[in-house]
Amino acid sequence: MVPIYLDYNATTPIDPEVIEAMLPFLEEKFGNPSSMHWYGISSRKALIKAREQVADLINCDPSEIIFTSGGTESNNYALKGFALANRHKGNHIITSSIEHPSVTEVCKYLQTIGFKVTYLPVDNKGSVSLKTLNESIKQDTILISIMHANNEVGTIQPIEELANIAQEKGICFHTDTAQSLGKIPVDNKKLKADMISIAGHKLYAPKGVGALYVKDGLSLEKLILGANQEHGHRAGTENILEIIGLGKACEIAKRDMSKNYNHLKAMSSRLWDGLASDIPNIKLNGHPKKRLPNTLNVSFPEINEYFQINLFLEIAASAGAACHSSNFKISQVLKAMKVPPELAKGTIRFSTGKMTTPDEIDMAISKVVEIYYKQKVC
Ligand SMILES: Cc1ncc(COP(=O)(O)O)c(C=O)c1O
Repeated sequence: MVPIYLDYNATTPIDPEVIEAMLPFLEEKFGNPSSMHWYGISSRKALIKAREQVADLINCDPSEIIFTSGGTESNNYALKGFALANRHKGNHIITSSIEHPSVTEVCKYLQTIGFKVTYLPVDNKGSVSLKTLNESIKQDTILISIMHANNEVGTIQPIEELANIAQEKGICFHTDTAQSLGKIPVDNKKLKADMISIAGHKLYAPKGVGALYVKDGLSLEKLILGANQEHGHRAGTENILEIIGLGKACEIAKRDMSKNYNHLKAMSSRLWDGLASDIPNIKLNGHPKKRLPNTLNVSFPEINEYFQINLFLEIAASAGAACHSSNFKISQVLKAMKVPPELAKGTIRFSTGKMTTPDEIDMAISKVVEIYYKQKVC
């Protein structure tokens, strides 16, 4: 039997409706969207439709959507592209201390070429404070990048308020919605971000496709030079097959948002209730309320190596600490939230998805409980 899949924040399976939408473009509709003949036109029409579907989900104009190879590229282009093109305006960037590596590694790189970066602390629930952001802004701050929801603990940041602070000061605001898009509403008429990163494989589209919303008029230095695809933002023949998958996934995410939200929440609550009733001293990391409906980051007290190894044989989840022969390397997010090392090393992220069933949850609870108590006697 394969392990029970509770790792939807790592990646999701492709939705069958998405596969169906992609199939013709894997077969007869193989044209290059830049070509002038029938094959090109049918790909071009599909590209236009996909752009509209993505734009519709985040409530922006389709011309503001640039397709990329995924969340990592979107974050790289947003930060590096903006910083390099706007260096003459200032060289200070603000981000949080719990961003995905595709943001923090870009910030570290920018530091090596002269930019100054402030990494905002978070509280023990993983939230960034508006006051701290306000206090960190300087005369030469040009960019603020704060993720919408954290991938490990699921904490949702007050993006509307954070973006508002940036806007009042005339600073560009970027948010990474790789984890939130499709799980909770991302409406840019309300959020008012200048750039938004999207990752396809977190919302039932294939891996290797994503998008970046770039507000009309913003100037970014290109990462990839060549021909004029993606309104001149990203050269290279479009990954039409996967772009169509992303478009369809966005259409479905919008259509099914409230149904999926309720399901994800019901499944993760069932999991938490079951675990907490049988292992009383477990601790939930992340914000108790302002959290993604599907994410449960749980610290198990007094675990040993046996626990992680055996758990992952039965349940596909993620560790909050990587175990290397009795040494535990605790995640940056849990460190920033000041989760005590003793608890952090026994942390597991369970993330449910729209395909998760109550039976899977019940089975997962009994497996976790069994392994937890077995390891205590090992
Ligand atoms: C918050 C966040 N940002 C960015 C990414 C990177 O996205 P991709 O895997 O599409 O490059 C991830 C993936 O785990 C993520 O969780």
